[in-house]
Amino acid sequence: MPVWAQDKVQLSVDASKPGPKIDRNLFGQFAEHLGYGVYEGIWVGPDSRIPNTRGIRNDVVAALKALKVPNVRWPGGCFADEYHWRKGIGARAVTLNPNWGGVIEPNTFGTHEFMDFIDQIGSQAYLSVNVGSGTPQEAAEWLEYLTASQPTTLVKERAANGHPAPYKIPLLGIGNESWDCGGNMTPEYYLRQLTIYSRFVRNYNPAQRDTDQMQKIAVGPGGGEARWTEWTETIMKAWEKRQWSWDMQGLSMHNYTVINWDNKFASVGFGEKEYAQILKETLKMEDLVTKHSAIMDKYDPQKKIALVVDEWGSWYAPSPGSNPGFLVQQNSIRDAILAALNLNIFARHADRVRGSNIAQMINVLQAMIMTDKEKMVLTPTYHVFKMYVPFQDATFIPVTFNAGTYTNGDITLPHVDAIAGKDTSGKLWLELTNVDPNNAVEIETSIAGLNVKSASGETLSAPKVDSVNTFDAPNAVTPKPASVKVQGGKLTIKLDPKSVTVISIS
Ligand code: AHR
Repeated sequence: MPVWAQDKVQLSVDASKPGPKIDRNLFGQFAEHLGYGVYEGIWVGPDSRIPNTRGIRNDVVAALKALKVPNVRWPGGCFADEYHWRKGIGARAVTLNPNWGGVIEPNTFGTHEFMDFIDQIGSQAYLSVNVGSGTPQEAAEWLEYLTASQPTTLVKERAANGHPAPYKIPLLGIGNESWDCGGNMTPEYYLRQLTIYSRFVRNYNPAQRDTDQMQKIAVGPGGGEARWTEWTETIMKAWEKRQWSWDMQGLSMHNYTVINWDNKFASVGFGEKEYAQILKETLKMEDLVTKHSAIMDKYDPQKKIALVVDEWGSWYAPSPGSNPGFLVQQNSIRDAILAALNLNIFARHADRVRGSNIAQMINVLQAMIMTDKEKMVLTPTYHVFKMYVPFQDATFIPVTFNAGTYTNGDITLPHVDAIAGKDTSGKLWLELTNVDPNNAVEIETSIAGLNVKSASGETLSAPKVDSVNTFDAPNAVTPKPASVKVQGGKLTIKLDPKSVTVISIS
């Protein structure tokens, strides 16, 4: 039933039936050596007139700190399978970046600079090791260099490069898209690589020996077709029958919102039709997660292996005038809604989906931040990630509601989406998305066992379906106080058209 045909949407929250933890790693980021993602976006060098700390821009660090970024996946992407870490320590080698525009890779941002960056923003490392063109030995030595504490030659070299203490590496990706840019491997061939890398690439940090052990993430599927289900089957089946000598803790999945790879949609200057088409496309994430989770359940009913959606987001045509290899695109309220819908899908599958990394953090694809020399702008997607911070490590709380429908031409989408969670201090949070770009909607919320006394929060909406923030108008799409009413223990929230709202309730 269309929502407008109802007086109000009735939504009930039952905090007596808590679900799984919404792992904070669901809100991870991805920073590849691609276009202006690292160089200019993060790294300007210590001599830059842009305020920086040891070469890393201060404005970007401050903005990312507020997102409480749980982990940053680096150095790629396709770049990772051509990355040789020694070129980015000590005296740097100047190389090329053939994947992304064929530009010079100065390697000035290497291992130590990355670790410094994540330390400055209060995050953790998710490293991808080179399986495509590297060797298990190269990857093993990188991990020894990073994590060992005994005085080996590599550890002394790390100390001489300024970091005597071992680094912590909580997440390790073994290859990237090994079925495609990572070496076009068959599942069986990749499986052989996985078992070898898993065996020899060790984390030696004493602080990660018993608790806090490094999680190894295998390359997983990139879609829902037979090729991908076969990939998931092959890896999971082998894992179930594994011998003591190898293991993994996660299987990655990549899924971008693209309708036609050969004729991508524009990121700005579009109408309601394209708004609806893209959101319909993004909701396919639900089926994809369900499909691969079902395969994983067959071999891992206890859900030991996490599904880690470590590349997702919108992928549009390059912004006019930009280098097509740099994947520069604008970011509109449509992307904010897209982000919320995906995060809600992940949260509803939190028992299996325990990591995700939006692509990418700065200046590339569905970015949080865009920079132009000394200027910086926060995107609508940034605001969504900030509003969702309370859901990091929150307990999932089931909500029931009639989502209603929003229709444009032959496309019908849910009008409303919602999740709820109890944060680590016990406070209840509710997220509500109004997908309809034209109609507001009122949500009457009842919370079992809670006589609501107060509620407040923020909402993000915009006048047009393609409203964006620009360097000249950086606050065109920015959160405002949500319209919330508490009366007689009941809570009523008015959602603006095309909006994302997060409120806390007590
Ligand atoms: O995010 C851009 C690229 O998309 C990544 O390098 C690759 O893994 C994927 O195909």
